[in-house]
Amino acid sequence: MSEAPVAPAEAAGVVGVRVVSKAFGGVHALRGASFAACAGEVHGLVGENGAGKSTLIKLLGGRLPPDTGSVMLDERAVRLSGTADAARHGIGTVFQELTLLPWMSVAENLLIGREPRSAIGLIRRGALAREAEAVLAGLGIHHIDPRALAAEVSLAERQIIEIARVIIRRPRILLLDEPTSSLAEREVEWLFARIRELRDQGTSIVFTSHRWNEITAIADRITIFRNGQEVGTFTTIDEAKAITLMTGRRVDALYPSLPPVPDGAPAALALAHGSLDGRTEFAFSLAAGEILGIGGLAGQGHRELFLGLFGAPALRRGRISVGGKPVRIANPADAIRAGFGIALVPEDRKTEGLLLSLPVRDNLSLPLLRRISRLGVIRGGAEMRMSREMISGLGIRTPTPMQPVGALSGGNQQKVLVGRWLLAESRILLLYDVTRGVDVATKHEICELMVRLAGEGKAILFYSSDTEELAHLCHRVLVLRGGRIAAELNRPELTAESIVAAAMRDAA
Ligand SMILES: Nc1ncnc2c1ncn2[C@@H]1O[C@H](COP(=O)(O)OP(=O)(O)OP(=O)(O)O)[C@@H](O)[C@H]1O
Ligand SMILES: [Mg+2]
Repeated sequence: MSEAPVAPAEAAGVVGVRVVSKAFGGVHALRGASFAACAGEVHGLVGENGAGKSTLIKLLGGRLPPDTGSVMLDERAVRLSGTADAARHGIGTVFQELTLLPWMSVAENLLIGREPRSAIGLIRRGALAREAEAVLAGLGIHHIDPRALAAEVSLAERQIIEIARVIIRRPRILLLDEPTSSLAEREVEWLFARIRELRDQGTSIVFTSHRWNEITAIADRITIFRNGQEVGTFTTIDEAKAITLMTGRRVDALYPSLPPVPDGAPAALALAHGSLDGRTEFAFSLAAGEILGIGGLAGQGHRELFLGLFGAPALRRGRISVGGKPVRIANPADAIRAGFGIALVPEDRKTEGLLLSLPVRDNLSLPLLRRISRLGVIRGGAEMRMSREMISGLGIRTPTPMQPVGALSGGNQQKVLVGRWLLAESRILLLYDVTRGVDVATKHEICELMVRLAGEGKAILFYSSDTEELAHLCHRVLVLRGGRIAAELNRPELTAESIVAAAMRDAA
């Protein structure tokens, strides 16, 4: 790791913006916004999806220039010509979207631009891997192989490398845009330990997250954004007040109350002799009108189970029945025929789920095309009308249904995915971490929608990385551990604590 000295602590605004505006076509991402972060502080930046957080980070990180207004460094207006220029000013940024080059090794990505070279300028591969290993170990990372290709490591590991790559360059200003959205709890703790070290050395850190517990755990000050403008900066503020400021309205209870599953409700979906590893077997059944939670630590087989039920690819072993009748789910087409809808929040929006270059409308109507087409001709009017209804129903922030999905903010892209399974009218919904990365108000809307759909008799299988959410929103929770069901928790003993306890039992 470089031994460059850390900049001395400075009193006032080290980095910020003064009355900046930024528009993309007709969309005003920032409207006369001002913001400042100091040395030696963690500055939390919060706001709804589309509030302008990432745009602000891009301006501060040199990725985009403002239309009007100034980026401020040490109280002086500066013009950053790009991220490399920003780096020369000591600004390091972890952007919301991942930037690693998939065909390069972890070590090459980590040490890009500072690789050990031979006398004639060739990269010394052995030395590169050893140096990367040492650098990672210095940050407390021991489980990532520096020789692996970036494309081969998990999304959480890629995120950790993105963070490590910036930290080892010792920035005096560190900008982190939703760095925890793909990290498990232990990795979040790792990141927070690094952030605290850097803060104590005088680094100015800007941190965005939709998880309020993270913001209160790490931020010294919090700035709330709404509609492209700051609405206030606070040293302490409670969640209810923050939500009101973020959304402009009160959100009284985050979780709606759950109606009981009707007595004698028929089994909508059942799995017998299911297996994720081909050895251990398990079984469960899900009733119409029930929300059945799947909990447990990350990487215990949740994803395989959800994809398996959807035939993408099929489960290693197991007999699936729908409405009491055995069905064969060999591929997603079978699952759709059987009345399954799957909403899988893509780990990486760029590669799964959404077609970023296609309009919002087409992304919403993808599974519907058969229904709204006649003799193979898509009825454009019907498609447009349904898309418009969904856009307003879910509050998807887009200037028109024809906007490419790739131009939407991260959370709004997610709403498009959620809207798609709603339009598909499936009887059985497989919802995999659908609230990850969405703001509190949207989360509230999604939770209400789930409860409403259950009330209408839909059967919902639900995985969430947010244990509180599982505890509040599910009738029952099955805790997965090592690819099998380790516990079944029913009300009233179903709590976030009991889920965590069941997930951890004899895990050590
Ligand atoms: N390249 C772009 N082209 C068109 N519109 C854009 C572009 N980048 C951002 N926007 C729009 O600007 C607004 C602000 O987006 P931004 O990404 O800054 O929001 P955010 O607060 O980071 O949201 P999230 O919490 O969902 O990440 C959104 O309405 C978004 O759709
Ligand atoms: Mg963002």
